[in-house]
Amino acid sequence: MNEFSENKNFDISNQKVTESCPSNIALIKYWGKYENQIPANPSISYTLNLCKTNTEMEFIADEEFSVQTFLAGKEELKFAEKIEKYFRNIEKYLPWILKGKYIIKTENTFPHSSGIASSASGFGAIAKCLMDLDRIFSGQIDADFSLKKASFLARLGSGSACRSLYDGMVVWGETKKVTGSSDLFAVRYPNEDVHNVFRNFNDWVLLIHEGEKSVSSTVGHGLMNTNPYAERRFQEAHENFALLKDILKNGDMTAFIRLVEHEALTLHAMMMMSEPAFILMKTGTLAVINKIWDFRKETNLPLFFTLDAGANVHLLFPSDKDESKIQEFIIKELVQHTQNNGIVKDVMRF
Ligand code: PMV
Repeated sequence: MNEFSENKNFDISNQKVTESCPSNIALIKYWGKYENQIPANPSISYTLNLCKTNTEMEFIADEEFSVQTFLAGKEELKFAEKIEKYFRNIEKYLPWILKGKYIIKTENTFPHSSGIASSASGFGAIAKCLMDLDRIFSGQIDADFSLKKASFLARLGSGSACRSLYDGMVVWGETKKVTGSSDLFAVRYPNEDVHNVFRNFNDWVLLIHEGEKSVSSTVGHGLMNTNPYAERRFQEAHENFALLKDILKNGDMTAFIRLVEHEALTLHAMMMMSEPAFILMKTGTLAVINKIWDFRKETNLPLFFTLDAGANVHLLFPSDKDESKIQEFIIKELVQHTQNNGIVKDVMRF
């Protein structure tokens, strides 16, 4: 039992709700978890502006529980199975949830399987739809609590999804460095503690490899249980929070770049040191990283990268007077390492 368990009265009826939720990209990474989606270390991300999932959820009351899902108009049976299991799992928090049939239509504003975290925006949008229904059925009207509970529910679908419910910079996982932070839901990182240089940023994603990854995030997280370097990594994430807090406050771009790239490489190093080992970077990923480093050495311009659990490269750079020089370099030198000239351009502005 916790503050999100429900035993209120509810009154269900046929409803159709729609919601939209953006993706996010972590700066300090979550990799490794305990039972019930409790993160092994705190993480912080930027919420994207343009890469979103739009979801329509139709609830047909008093029919036998079932879930039908459509992704960009195409029926997806595997996704429906996953959502069905997820709904059963969260019944104690939404006691009406198994009392009807669902038709869920969802589409992403970015290419499917592009490696942009569609599970984050996807579960974020579903959790928001569920909280819309909950408000209608139970009369709950506290908007802040609804958002917090949506984050809590999204986390149970896909850990990093809980961060997508808020704009700007978002923290998930308990850390002494952020007041109110929790393992159960995400919280907004205070805007006033983020220097202006970090509040108007580009994230251009190079689609180095499109299609299924060889190892899923779930398996990857699981392999941290036996990784001999895991404990040190979890501790380092805490240390990096302390460093990042100062960096964000004083606007130290050089230190920011060092920390964010280190986090991305550590994530992939953990994969390489798992048993069995796995590598999600591709030749193109490494070529791009080396070119970024050479570019920085030559020009001193603040172009840097982060990586998710995949081969694609998130190119980060401030939106300022130098951005056109950086953009030119990306188009001329980096896009050639993608599979199909794939690039998704997003921004973070808050
Ligand atoms: O939320 P999951 O279980 O898909 O894990 C995602 C983990 C990373 O994207 C690699 C890091 C993060 O913090 O988002």
